[in-house]
Amino acid sequence: MFKGVLFDLDGVLTDTAEYHYLAWKELANHLGIHIDRDFNEQLKGVSREDSLTLILKHGNQLDQFSKEEFAQLAKQKNDLYVEMIQKVSPKDVYPGILALLSDLKAQNIAISLASASKNGPVLLKKLGLLPYFDAIANPAEIKNGKPAPDIFLLAAEKIKVPIDQCIGIEDAKAGIQGIKASGAYPIGVGTPEELGKDLSLVPNTTQLTFNFLVNSWETSHGNKN
Ligand code: BG6
Ligand code: MG
Repeated sequence: MFKGVLFDLDGVLTDTAEYHYLAWKELANHLGIHIDRDFNEQLKGVSREDSLTLILKHGNQLDQFSKEEFAQLAKQKNDLYVEMIQKVSPKDVYPGILALLSDLKAQNIAISLASASKNGPVLLKKLGLLPYFDAIANPAEIKNGKPAPDIFLLAAEKIKVPIDQCIGIEDAKAGIQGIKASGAYPIGVGTPEELGKDLSLVPNTTQLTFNFLVNSWETSHGNKN
């Protein structure tokens, strides 16, 4: 059986993936760069700085900003985003998530946050989910962001569970790649088109139950303890 679960936040625990998109879109508009939801798929799970780099590349503007201006643009996006998440509250937790977290706790399975977002702790607090989490991996402590495995390895280390006894849950392609590279067992929230056909998927969090996790784990690892 698995001993730990490493949760992504944006798009798994709540709908903040949408706010990230809206904030990036507003910033891109100011710069005269067009981005749409299709383009946004590449930004999901990706750090603030790496997302800005992708957007500027997309608009052929990467070489037009100094280091300081780049940092200023990243701050502008974050200011927009922080304004948008002010209204986030416990009623914004995705369906099924509270039940899953309670079941995991009842089974003594450690719960860790593996989000790329520096706003993760603030959001967990606003969502009322902090008491469920045994640890939060700080993205400022890692070298490489998703799709690298670093944040998942750190999240597992923080709960002292070997990575191969952990499940990682993600809604982003970059995140699934990171989980696979870390050695944790991936479960995706999304479609096979978005996340791949070679892993256990739920279309949304209502189906992300403790039983689903156990069944997926046992199917791939054999029914042993
Ligand atoms: C990830 C989001 O969880 O966090 C990305 O999926 C976001 O869209 C990244 O860019 C970094 O978030 P933040 O809040 O530190 O800018
Ligand atoms: Mg996500």
